Amino acid sequence: MNPYNVETAPPCTLFLFGANGDLVKRLLMPALYNLSRDGLLDRNLRIVGVDHNAATGAEFAERLAAFMRERDKAAADSAQSLDPKRWARLAKRIDYLTGDFLDPDTYQAIAKHIGRSRNGNAIFYLATAPRFFADVVQRLGDGGLLNETEGFRRVVIEKPFGSDLASAELLNACLLRVMSEKQIYRIDHYLGKETVQNILVSRFSNGLFEAFWNNHYIDHVQITAAETVGVEERAAFYDHTGALRDMVPNHLFQLLAMVAMEPPAAFGADAVRSEKAKVIGAIRPWSKAMALKNSVRGQYTEGRQGRKKLKGYRDEPRVAADSQTETYVALKVMIDNWRWVGVPFYLRTGKRMSVRDTEIAICFKPAPYAQFRDSDAERPKPNYLKIQIQPNEGMWFDLQAKRPGPALAMENVELGFAYKDFFNMRPATGYETLIYDCLIGDQTLFQRADNIENGWRAVQPFLDAWKEGGEVHAYAAGEDGPVAADELLARERRVWHRLG
Ligand code: BG6
Repeated sequence: MNPYNVETAPPCTLFLFGANGDLVKRLLMPALYNLSRDGLLDRNLRIVGVDHNAATGAEFAERLAAFMRERDKAAADSAQSLDPKRWARLAKRIDYLTGDFLDPDTYQAIAKHIGRSRNGNAIFYLATAPRFFADVVQRLGDGGLLNETEGFRRVVIEKPFGSDLASAELLNACLLRVMSEKQIYRIDHYLGKETVQNILVSRFSNGLFEAFWNNHYIDHVQITAAETVGVEERAAFYDHTGALRDMVPNHLFQLLAMVAMEPPAAFGADAVRSEKAKVIGAIRPWSKAMALKNSVRGQYTEGRQGRKKLKGYRDEPRVAADSQTETYVALKVMIDNWRWVGVPFYLRTGKRMSVRDTEIAICFKPAPYAQFRDSDAERPKPNYLKIQIQPNEGMWFDLQAKRPGPALAMENVELGFAYKDFFNMRPATGYETLIYDCLIGDQTLFQRADNIENGWRAVQPFLDAWKEGGEVHAYAAGEDGPVAADELLARERRVWHRLG
C-alpha cells in the first residue's frame, strides 16, 4: 500500500502536449515521478510526450532525467533526489510522438497509441502556449478522441484561461462544443498546494471558526502574493499580461473563495465548486470610476535586494522600453452577500518585492477600549489570523497579552502552527494531487466554467477602466509596492499586514 492509503490511479495513456516546454520538465514529470515513487500510478500508465521536435521516447525520457539530476545537484535538500532504479521503472513507460498540434496526422497517431494500449482511458494534458488550446481541443473532438465509449477521455487545460471575460467565455464555448464539463480539468496550480486545501479543512472541521467568520467580527481581509522574482525569461508572455491577469482572477480569487465561501453541503466537486462560483459571483462589479478608485498599479524600477542590484522592469530582456504593464497590483473588492457585506477584501500581488510571502491576513474588529480608558495601556492592536500559504507554511493568531510587570501594558503574542513542526511533508511540486485527482476523476480541485467566468467578470471593470485612465506608479525593485498602495488602505484607516 502507498503511504497515503489511497487507491492506485487507474491505467491510462497520458498525452503531454507541449512536451518540450518548461512545465513538463520542471513540474509535471517530477510530479509523475513522485506519484510513481509513492506507488500511486498503475503499472499500465503510459506517458506520451507530444511536440513538434523530432525525438524518440528514450531521448525524451533522458532529457527529463538530466534536468532532474541537475536540479538535484543545485538543491541543498537531498530529499529531492532522483532514485535511478525508480526512475528506470517510470522511464520504461515514457514515449514520444513527433507532431504538429494543428496537423490531423498527429491525432491519427494519437488514436493509434490509444488503440495499442490495454484500455481506452486517455488524458490530454495541454501544457502548450494558450493560443493552441482551442485548436487542439477541436482536433481531438474532430478525430473522435473525446468520445468516451471505450474508456474515459479527459482534457487538462493550463492557465491562462482567456485574457478577459469575452475570451474566457469563447474558450469555454469551444471546449463545451466537443466535450462535457465532466471531461474538462482547468488547472489552477494554487489548488494543488496543501496549505490552500487546508483552508477549507481548517474552516469546516473546527467548529469554533464559524462563530466569528463573518462581518460581525471580521473588519477586513488581506490576501497577498508577494514574489521576489522579476519577470525572468517570460517577458514575451508577461508584457502583454501583467500582474492583474496573471495572478488575480485565478490564484488570488481561489484564495478569496476558500476564505469566503459558504460551507458546501458535501466535500464533492459539485458542491464545493458551486459555493466557490457563488462567492466569486458575489464580488461587486465596480463601475469604471470605482474600479480606478479601488485599484493601484505599479511597475518596478531599478533597485536592490540586499547587496544585489536589480534591473528595472523596462530594462529586462524583451520588455518594451515604454511598457505600461503592471508588475504590481493592489485592489479592494467587496462581496455582496450576508456574511461579508461591509467587509473589504484587499488583494495585492507583485514581482520584485522584498520577500516571498503568500498569505491571507484576517483582521478582526478591535475590542472596545472602554475597560482600559483610565489606564496607561495603549489601545489594543487588532487581532490577525494569518494563514501562511508559502513559505513557512502554517497559521498564526495574534493575541494581546499582559506584559509582566507592575504596569498595565500589553504586547502582541502569537499562537501558531507550522506545518514543518507537525507533519513530515514528502518533497512535492504541488502538481501531484492535481494529476492524481485527474486520473481518478475527482474535479474538486479544478475550476468549473462558471468559476473562471465569474473571476474574469470581477476583474473586467479594472481592465476596462485602466484602458481609459489611471497611472502606473513606480516602486523600486526590492520594495513592497508603490506608496499609492498604502494610501488605498490608509484612506480607510487601515494598514497592510507586515510581510514576511
Ligand atoms: C504563475 C504566474 O501562475 O504563478 C507566475 O504565471 C507566478 O507569474 C506564479 O510567479 C506564482 O506561483 P507560486 O506557486 O510560486 O506562488
